[in-house]
Amino acid sequence: MNKTETLSRKLEQARLGGGQDRIDKQHAKGKLTARERVHLLLDPGSFEEVGALVIHRTTDFNMERQVFYGDGVITGYGTVEGRLVYVFAQDFTVFGGSLSETHAEKICKIMDMAVKTGAPLIGLNDSGGARIQEGVRSLGGYADIFYRNVQASGVIPQLSAIMGPCAGGAVYSPAMTDFTIMVENTSYMFVTGPNVVKTVTNEEVSSEDLGGASAHSTKSGVTHLTAANDVLCLQQLRRLLSYLPQNCEETPAAFPYELGTEIREQLNDLVPENPNQPYDMREVIKGIIDEDSFLEIHERYADNIVVGFARLAGRSIGIVANQPYSLAGVLDVESSKKAARFTRTCDCFNVPLLVLVDVPGFLPGTDQEWSGIITNGAKLLYALSEATVPRVTVITRKAYGGAYDVMNSKHIGADFNFAWPGAEIAVMGAKGASEIIFRKEIGAAQDQAAKLAEKEAEYAETFANPYRAAQRGFIDEVIYPQETRRKLIRAFATLENKVATRPKRKHGNIPL
Ligand code: HXC
Repeated sequence: MNKTETLSRKLEQARLGGGQDRIDKQHAKGKLTARERVHLLLDPGSFEEVGALVIHRTTDFNMERQVFYGDGVITGYGTVEGRLVYVFAQDFTVFGGSLSETHAEKICKIMDMAVKTGAPLIGLNDSGGARIQEGVRSLGGYADIFYRNVQASGVIPQLSAIMGPCAGGAVYSPAMTDFTIMVENTSYMFVTGPNVVKTVTNEEVSSEDLGGASAHSTKSGVTHLTAANDVLCLQQLRRLLSYLPQNCEETPAAFPYELGTEIREQLNDLVPENPNQPYDMREVIKGIIDEDSFLEIHERYADNIVVGFARLAGRSIGIVANQPYSLAGVLDVESSKKAARFTRTCDCFNVPLLVLVDVPGFLPGTDQEWSGIITNGAKLLYALSEATVPRVTVITRKAYGGAYDVMNSKHIGADFNFAWPGAEIAVMGAKGASEIIFRKEIGAAQDQAAKLAEKEAEYAETFANPYRAAQRGFIDEVIYPQETRRKLIRAFATLENKVATRPKRKHGNIPL
């Protein structure tokens, strides 16, 4: 065999990973192989592999007899819509995709390259965890990756797809990246699996129920997105990237867009006259943004707030919006955390923020207080206050109490604040307010119900409108709903070159 043939043979072995029978097993589970995933993720023909001939160095347990080129992870770079990205894909056909010292070194190498060149990093996770035969060396390998995740945080976008097992401490790498997407029914994430759970707590639970895509997209919020299969997962990753820049020094690429009248009459009738009647804030979003451009994040988790990316006249924006359809759009522990996290992600990567407000306040009760609504509500307040990206607010209806301040008010640094004519900006709703401030007067009245109604109407007339706030300049303009899109396009265009400076410090201390 000549030297060229030797290379070809080695590369062919690397291509086959753990062998054809294991590839067939992977397919039988409805999963693609690591190599197939990389090729589907990237633009056709753009993948350049790095480290295809790496092998592990373990000799314990006769491991020297089991050597596979690539050592269970495919690493390299390529393009998505012409943009450079770095990628690693764990290969379950080699020792169950388990992480050895060399496997970790390969991942670390491309993480370093991604940071050096200012390009996003995408990890496709499918692994049995630490390579058991390597002991602490594989644990150290994980920590090397964790450390790099943190150093790269806020510098380059880091996206994680969970496309198989992801258990034990291994979950903490995806958890520290910007986005996690899980494939339904074939992936799971947990710190301790069903067997340990049974031993420690006597609970019987399946892997799927404990840490499948459904649990993490509805109960824990660990995953931002889910996909029905591998192909859709990879497509979602490509779409998600389109809203993000290459790194924190850049802005997201704009799509071509030609301006028209930008009037959207359907927005005029979306908010019901009755302030207690709900409506779907997603319809408001739909009426404002470019057609079909909304990518909702955490769609089924804490659905009293809606967050996601969209485009406005071709430009990427992040949206944070109270959802009157769920819990009347109230802020609670989970929705505050969800919105705070999304706000910070947008701010890291120069994605301007649009905040749509219809909020009756914070959710009262022992459950919320004991779950730390104070600290968690403060997260959102903090995240918005520190965000330096262009920030625009539209109050569609209620903006009551502390939640008025928190939801991107002028006072905490929003650049433009608009309100629709039906907006109610006050300390609280008319009934509650009247019961407190007119208590004596109502108590002394012969017909107390009539007196309360009279006082309620008086209060509503005085405060349940946007004009007091507009008089003080807290609202820049009261706008007709149909004009919202046009106003926002102009507002964000005006803010394109916004520069905001912050006091010198090591870092702030967000109430985690
Ligand atoms: C070495 C492993 C492995 C591992 C799987 N394999 N996990 N080899 N180290 N961690 C090997 C198996 O021996 C098998 O090899 C092949 O991969 C496929 O595994 P199967 O068990 O046949 O596959 P499946 O039935 O699909 O089950 C997948 C699995 C299971 C659920 C992931 O393999 C499993 O439970 N593995 C152990 C998981 C684990 O406890 N990992 C350590 C977690 S602690 P052959 O040659 O037989 O095909 C951890 C700490 C991280 O990760 C800490 C970071 C700080």
